[in-house]
Amino acid sequence: MPLTTELTRKLEIAHPIFQAPLAGGGDTPELVAAVSNAGGLGFIGAAYLAPSQIIESARIVRSKTERPFGINLFAPSSAPEIPGNSQDVLQRLAPFFAELGLLAPILPSRASESFSEQLEAALQTGASVFSFTFGVLSSDAIAAIKRKNMFLFGTATTVDEAIALEQAGVDGVVTQGSEAGGHRGTFAGDFSSGMIGTMSLVPQVVDAVRVPVIASGGIMDGRGIAAALALGASAVQLGTAFLTCDESGIPNAYKEAILHAHEDQTRITKAFSGRPARGIVNRFMTEVESGDAAEAILPFPLQNAVTRPLRSAAAKQGRAEFLSLWAGQGMRLARRQSAADLIVRLVRETNAALEHLQAMKSTGQARSAR
Ligand SMILES: Cc1cc2nc3c(=O)[nH]c(=O)nc-3n(C[C@H](O)[C@H](O)[C@H](O)COP(=O)(O)O)c2cc1C
Repeated sequence: MPLTTELTRKLEIAHPIFQAPLAGGGDTPELVAAVSNAGGLGFIGAAYLAPSQIIESARIVRSKTERPFGINLFAPSSAPEIPGNSQDVLQRLAPFFAELGLLAPILPSRASESFSEQLEAALQTGASVFSFTFGVLSSDAIAAIKRKNMFLFGTATTVDEAIALEQAGVDGVVTQGSEAGGHRGTFAGDFSSGMIGTMSLVPQVVDAVRVPVIASGGIMDGRGIAAALALGASAVQLGTAFLTCDESGIPNAYKEAILHAHEDQTRITKAFSGRPARGIVNRFMTEVESGDAAEAILPFPLQNAVTRPLRSAAAKQGRAEFLSLWAGQGMRLARRQSAADLIVRLVRETNAALEHLQAMKSTGQARSAR
């Protein structure tokens, strides 16, 4: 049975299930299209893509589906200053590079793509939804997205952030619970106070804003989806659950790490990118953070750009100990399967969980009538 909500009707999708944007290679066009074809909403995580790559990925998605899909970017922030100790940081990273047969790391001439060029490309993709994380977009950017009639969703990790996004004019708020895999979206406060679990965050945001809320963070199966809907969410956004799908582009060593890790084996780290993100604990994370982190880690996105060659080589060589293994706390529930099978399973499980609650209610009513 389809799981329709007012939001799914507006977005013209069958199920209130979004595949999270998975910047860094997880969300191949094949994954995005498979999710959308199965009645969910696939997302292209375009934050690390050059404008031409954004256009090309969307072209492939459109060649594989006529269903709606979304596009996601990071809200821009001013480029960080290069810290005085950057050469020390590079030197500390050099042995890891040498171990993979790479030349010593260097500071990149440009640490990230130009947001305005990425936005220009994103507006040409034919995506019907635009979402963003890491901040609030400028009123000019919001106006440009709305002129394209795209639905606009921003990411919040606290109630105050959700209110700021609503005031800026978004059509929906994606709540990112502390369980979530990947980078924290926190933008209005310090990262440690933005660590609110999905169970607490969703209902408080639902009470505080009028726009629909999309719950994310630790949701892996139909029980989680039913719970999020019961908390007042209009849809859910799953990241980790889609990473182990057949169509996901992450290296096999990363998929295996998710399939074998437990809920207590992730940590929030800045080691790979300079910005807090949740991933499976591995050697790189432990060793980089073993001393004084401030001495060892450059600010985002510099650290991300510096460690990129290491992560790319590790992916090719199957060395999970040097990969950023972004994953949420629900990873024991991850399965290898096609995206279409995952969506079918999620819908079946959600219906079963909702029927279970209904049956409990009926039993309770029958008991109290006796
Ligand atoms: C590998 C990975 C990459 C991600 N990339 C993005 C991204 O580009 N943009 C974004 O808004 N969220 C991104 N996220 C966060 C997701 O939107 C979402 O908050 C998270 O996956 C939900 O938690 P879960 O992984 O437990 O399902 C990413 C998450 C992961 C695991």
